[in-house]
Amino acid sequence: MALPANFLDELRARTPIAAVIGRSVKLTRSSRDWKGCCPFHGEKTPSFYVYDDHYHCFGCGEHGDVITFVMKSTGAAFMEAVEDLAAQAGLDVPKPTPQAAEAEARRAGLAEVLEAACKEYQLWLWGEVGRPALDYLRGRGLADDTIRRFQLGWSGEGRGALAAALRGQNIKPDQLIEAGLMKQGERGPVDMFFSRVMFPIRDRRGGLISFGGRIMGDGQPKYVNGPETALFSKRRSLYGLNLARDAVRKGAAMIIAEGYMDVIALSQAGFTGAVAPLGTALTEEHLEEIWKLSPEPVICFDGDGAGQRAALKTAELALTQLSPEKSLKFLSLPPKDDPDSLIKRGGRQAFEAELAKARPLSAVLFDMLKLGQNLSTPEGRAQFWERLAAAANSIPNKVLSTEYYNLLKNQYNPKDKSGRAKSERSQWIKNSQGRFVPAPPPVPIPPRTAPDVEAAQFRRARLMLSVLLAFPTLLPDVDEAYSHVRLPVADEPLRQALHGFVSRAKTLDTSSLFTHLDSLGLGGQARALQEQTRAEFRLAPGASPAEAARNWWSLYELMDFSIDMLRTQRDEAQALWLANPDDRAACDRLMRYNELLTRARSGATGLEEI
Ligand code: UTP
Ligand code: MN
Repeated sequence: MALPANFLDELRARTPIAAVIGRSVKLTRSSRDWKGCCPFHGEKTPSFYVYDDHYHCFGCGEHGDVITFVMKSTGAAFMEAVEDLAAQAGLDVPKPTPQAAEAEARRAGLAEVLEAACKEYQLWLWGEVGRPALDYLRGRGLADDTIRRFQLGWSGEGRGALAAALRGQNIKPDQLIEAGLMKQGERGPVDMFFSRVMFPIRDRRGGLISFGGRIMGDGQPKYVNGPETALFSKRRSLYGLNLARDAVRKGAAMIIAEGYMDVIALSQAGFTGAVAPLGTALTEEHLEEIWKLSPEPVICFDGDGAGQRAALKTAELALTQLSPEKSLKFLSLPPKDDPDSLIKRGGRQAFEAELAKARPLSAVLFDMLKLGQNLSTPEGRAQFWERLAAAANSIPNKVLSTEYYNLLKNQYNPKDKSGRAKSERSQWIKNSQGRFVPAPPPVPIPPRTAPDVEAAQFRRARLMLSVLLAFPTLLPDVDEAYSHVRLPVADEPLRQALHGFVSRAKTLDTSSLFTHLDSLGLGGQARALQEQTRAEFRLAPGASPAEAARNWWSLYELMDFSIDMLRTQRDEAQALWLANPDDRAACDRLMRYNELLTRARSGATGLEEI
C-alpha cells in the first residue's frame, strides 16, 4: 500500500539530496548545482549532476530522487530506503492503513478541486463580472500576460457562487471545505473568499495547494490566505517558488520578498527568482527550501521598524542553520517602500540599484543586534555583549561560529588600546566544551611547516579570478571549468557576476566588464581583489591573452579536485616508464606529474616559474 504523498514530501524536504549523496560521492559546486563522478558507472571526469531535488548522470543516464538514490546505491527496496532516510531525519513512517490510503485518494482529489476553482476564478476575472477586479490589477501596473502567468482570478461576490459553478463537475461543498475554499457556517457551508482578487498558491512542483485573496481598496483584512489543509502548510510553502526555481537555476538572483504583489511586480520587472512567505515569518523549512536553490539568497525587507525586526528574526533563525554553503544577504529598502512600490515608482533600475546594495549577513549582523540596545551603562553593554556571543554561539558549524565570534568581538571592541598591531590582537577560539577561550599566543612558525592546503587553494582560486578580471576574453573558455573551483564565500558574487557577464555581454573587454561589475555594486570588491593579488600575479605589461590563459590553466591544474586526477596520471606515467626505462619522453612525463603533485600539495600558486 502506498505511503501518503505528504509524508514522502516531508521526507524529501528533510533529507537534502546533496547531503545524502555527498556522503558517498565527492561533490563540488557547479554554478547553482552540484557535480561529481557518477557512482553508477566508472568515470574519471564528473558528469553526475545533483540538483535541488534530483540527480542526473549525463554519462550513463541514471537519474532519480533521494529515495531512488538510496535504493540504487545500496540495493535497498523502496520501503527499506524510506525507513532508512526517515530514521536519519527523525521521522516516523506512517503505517499504511486503509484509512491512510483513503485520505491519500481524497488529497489527490483536492488538487483537482482547486484546479477547477482556479479555472473558474480566471473565467470570472476575464469576463464581465470581473471587470472591476481586472481594472484594479491593471491599475496596479500589471500587464495582461503577467496576470495570466500568475493565473490571477476573481472570487465572485460569494454566497455560494463557486459551489454552484462547480456542482456541474460533481464537486461537493464538503470537498470545497476540505480544500479550504469554503468553511462551515451556522447555516451550512459559506465561501472562504468573496469579493477578492485571487492568487493561486502552488507548491515547488507547480501543484495547486491553496489561494490568497486581496480585497480591492482599503477594507480589512487586506489579504485572506487559505487555511491549513491536507495540501497546504504555510510553514513550508513559498509563493512563487514553482516559477522562481527555474529562473534561479538559469541564473536569476533568488530574492525573498514579503508579499504576493512584490513577487509579481519583481517578476514582471525581470527579477524572476522572487518568492514570499504567506503572511508568516520565514521558518526553518522556508530557509532549507531556499538554500536548496541558492547558497546566498537576498532577503528583502521594508525599511520600517517592523521590517527591521523581521530581518533580525530571520537573521537569528538563519544563524542556527548557517554553514559555509548556506548564508543570506540582506536588502533594506527605503522606509515605506516595498519592491512593488519601488518598481512602480522607479522601474527596474530602481530595484536593481537597491539589489546591488544587498549586504551579506556577516556585514549586517552586528548592527542588527545593536538595534534597541542600551549601551550607556555597563549592564547594558554586558547584555549586548552576551547577545553577540549568543548569536555566534548559535551557529552549528564550529569554524564558522569562531569566525563570527571574532568578527563580532572586533566590532564590539574596535579600539585597540594596547597599540599592538591588529594581527596580534587576541583571537578567540571554541574549546572542546564549546566555550570561547582566548587562543594561545601564536607559536613562531618553524620553517618548512606543513602548508595550509585550504588557504593555498583559496589563494589560487582568487588569483584565477584576478586573471579573469584582467583578461575577460578568457571567460567563455574557462566558464565551465571555473564553476568547479571553490572560492572563499565572500568572492562568490564576483564569480557569479563573471558568469552573468559572459552570457550577456556583447564585447568581452575589461571596461565593459567593470561597467557590469559596477552596476552590481561589485566594482570596488573586484579592484580590491586585483590590488591584493598584484604581488603574486605579475604578468609582464602587454602580456597576451594566450599567456594569461596559460597562467590560468596552470593554476587550475593545482586545484584540490585535480589532485586525485594528478595522482592517477602519475601512476599511469610511472607504469609506462617502468615498462620502458629508456624512453626519454615517458621519463619526462613522469617527472612532470611528480612535480605537479608536489606543487599541488604544497602551497605553491603555480605562477612562480612563469
Ligand atoms: P503587506 O501589508 O506588506 O501587503 O503584507 P503588500 O504585500 O504590500 O500588499 P499590497 O501591495 O498592499 O497589495 C505582506 C504580506 O502579508 C500577508 C500577505 O501575504 C501579504 O502579501 N498579509 C498581509 C496577510 O496575510 N493578511 C493581511 O491582512 C495583510
Ligand atoms: Mn505592497
